[in-house]
Amino acid sequence: MLDKYVIHGGNKLYGSVTIQTSKNATLPIMAASIIAKDKFKIFNPPKISDVNNMLLILNKLGAIIEEKDNYIQIDNTSLNNLKIDCKLSKTMRSSIFLLGALLNRFKFAIISAPGGCKIGKRPIDLHINSFKKLGVEVKTCGKQLYFNALNSHPAKIKLKLPSVGATENIIEFACTLKGKTTIKNAAREPEVVDLCNFLNLMGAKIYGAGSKTITIYGVDSLRGVKYTPISDRIVAGTIMIATAICGGKVCLKHANPEQNKKLIEILRLIGCKIETKCDIITISSDANLVSPKNILTGFYPNFPTDLQSMMLTLCCVLKGKTTVQESVFENRFLTVPALIKMGANIKQINKHKIVVNGVKSLYAARVKSTDLRGGAALILAGLVADGTTKVTNIKLVNRGYQNLHEMLNSLGACIKYE
Ligand code: UD1
Repeated sequence: MLDKYVIHGGNKLYGSVTIQTSKNATLPIMAASIIAKDKFKIFNPPKISDVNNMLLILNKLGAIIEEKDNYIQIDNTSLNNLKIDCKLSKTMRSSIFLLGALLNRFKFAIISAPGGCKIGKRPIDLHINSFKKLGVEVKTCGKQLYFNALNSHPAKIKLKLPSVGATENIIEFACTLKGKTTIKNAAREPEVVDLCNFLNLMGAKIYGAGSKTITIYGVDSLRGVKYTPISDRIVAGTIMIATAICGGKVCLKHANPEQNKKLIEILRLIGCKIETKCDIITISSDANLVSPKNILTGFYPNFPTDLQSMMLTLCCVLKGKTTVQESVFENRFLTVPALIKMGANIKQINKHKIVVNGVKSLYAARVKSTDLRGGAALILAGLVADGTTKVTNIKLVNRGYQNLHEMLNSLGACIKYE
């Protein structure tokens, strides 16, 4: 099976690419579709393994799936299973997003501990405690969790952290609970807003998405709709950072400059030229850039944790010293050993902080993807390294990127998929 990128580094990137639809918007939207006993069409879903796995999970729950070239049809009329397949749910964290929708539809649900990237502990206490506040009974039996929502009711919930997944789960569950539910300290990510737009189109009454307080007025029922999720700001960010690293000029179509505001601000600060117009971002770089001094990740609208690994690769070849601080997850410097093997000068201070001293060039090496975004970051390192870099375990990258090698090759990179 193909699972390795062989990258001949040193090429500049020129041309234009169309950014895929967002993974983190599409997955919860697919999950939320099961709330309605109806048919859905989701247009331009990204062709990635996480979407395939979500389709398998929905299929196991009883949904009838039809895949066409530019849309998937999900028919949830005869959904009949309330247990999420244990093996499949371990392959990705998004299975947790099914919980709110399943409970909404059946009032009962059974899940096993969700999987995903090894970037941190990733507890689900905020999800569980929020469901309990909404009157859901939660029982643990071995590795399985049983949920009973027969006595559920609306509530005022204040999240300890603005968790994306917990915010989405509460919304999915509460949108048909009679009465008013509020979420304080809600996640403000664009993908949460997209989920709310989707649910509102289905007939829900959700207000305040994108702000810290979301108010949900329960409606009786929801209906099937046709929907196109937003573009993927992390894929757009990856291509922008790749261009900054390699040098060249790239035009990103179907991108959203507003949702990548923080990244654009930093890339301009270090010396890239960036023009934005509607859904087009054009970036040029002479690859002679200076350090931004500090990178600090945080919840939206701060710098996204999902772009931190790629930014770290960039910092390795910038003039000057950069401190990179990861405030969202506690194990997100997984690429550090591989980057050091490639000649980077990185000192890890603690789990959340590293200091990078820019070097003139990186060297080719055989390295392994340890997580989805980390794998992409090593591919970017390979693009700028002297010689031929081999990045293995590409299946992790394929969880979120649709044919990343083809997109980069169309811009002038030289990557073979073996
Ligand atoms: C989502 C994204 C992921 C992104 C992350 C943060 C999807 C499919 N995934 O993940 O790509 O990196 O947002 O932007 O949309 N936490 C708890 N208890 C909980 C839940 C979360 O302590 O019950 C903590 C997490 O450990 C983490 C922080 O809250 O430190 C943020 O996690 P969260 O926003 O929930 O991330 P996900 O929804 O899993």
